[in-house]
Amino acid sequence: MQKSDWWHTEISDISPGVIRYHGYSVEQLIASEGVSVGSMIWLMTRGEIPTPLQAKLLERAMIAAVDHGPQAPSIAIARMAMTCGVDINNAMASAINVLGDVHGGAGQQLMELVSEIIADGRPVEVVVSEKLREFRARKKHIPGFGHRFHPRDPRRDPLLRLVEQARDAGEIEGKALEVTLEIEKQISAGRTRPIPMNIDGATAVIYSELGFSPMLGRGLFVLSRSIGALAHANEEFQSQMRNKGPENRTVLPNYQGAAPRDVP
Ligand SMILES: CC(C)(COP(=O)(O)OP(=O)(O)OC[C@H]1O[C@@H](n2cnc3c(N)ncnc32)[C@H](O)[C@@H]1OP(=O)(O)O)[C@@H](O)C(=O)NCCC(=O)NCCS
Repeated sequence: MQKSDWWHTEISDISPGVIRYHGYSVEQLIASEGVSVGSMIWLMTRGEIPTPLQAKLLERAMIAAVDHGPQAPSIAIARMAMTCGVDINNAMASAINVLGDVHGGAGQQLMELVSEIIADGRPVEVVVSEKLREFRARKKHIPGFGHRFHPRDPRRDPLLRLVEQARDAGEIEGKALEVTLEIEKQISAGRTRPIPMNIDGATAVIYSELGFSPMLGRGLFVLSRSIGALAHANEEFQSQMRNKGPENRTVLPNYQGAAPRDVP
């Protein structure tokens, strides 16, 4: 068969009767009990099969972010889309399309910030303090911290505990953890209500420690939230409701425009 450089890839090697990813045959990957879905994601994005601990950390982060119920815009949108008669792929894509810098995608920005702080080389507390001053001056929120209604995101502690354990076992460096804990300490200082790390932040710590790029970090969040979007879109489909809006039809949006008037 003719080969062309129009597309060249180091990921998949496909020819009649052959499917290999980074050199591993799909037959062996299917048969190997040691290869989980998390390992497969790692293999596809990083080119190697991860160690058991790397796979575990990646999977725990992804498990933590699968869903946040219909009050999360991504999930509500997937459900609304489903009631409009579109198919499940459209509903899932709608969810993915709203995972931006404020909802679900803040981890990417935090990963960028963390790598800048680490690269700076000066003591972490000094660089963090400088960066926070810049954010405040621009009236910007620090990505990966705070939550609309959880005073302390219940996913933060178990995720960070796993990171601490991996650091203590010498499996990861722990630098991203150090930086983000310093940010958390400084943004919460002097406040009656602290501003703890949220799910985007805690997963960003894991993805940074595991050496994923910030862009891949966002992609991994999207992958995990797709599981929730799939489940909710499917559940909403069972309801057979049609054209379900963001609020019950008995509740009207608060119109604040011009009073009724005649067209001139
Ligand atoms: C998620 C978010 C939109 C919630 O914002 P919110 O509903 O305004 O949060 P709160 O009302 O609890 O904020 C309370 C206070 O903490 C501050 N605060 C909240 N998150 C903050 C953050 N990330 N950085 C700096 N200050 C923050 C608010 O400005 C507010 O300050 P004030 O009391 O001086 O007015 C906000 O925390 C945010 O934008 N975080 C960064 C983006 C992010 O991580 N998104 C993923 C969310 S899971």
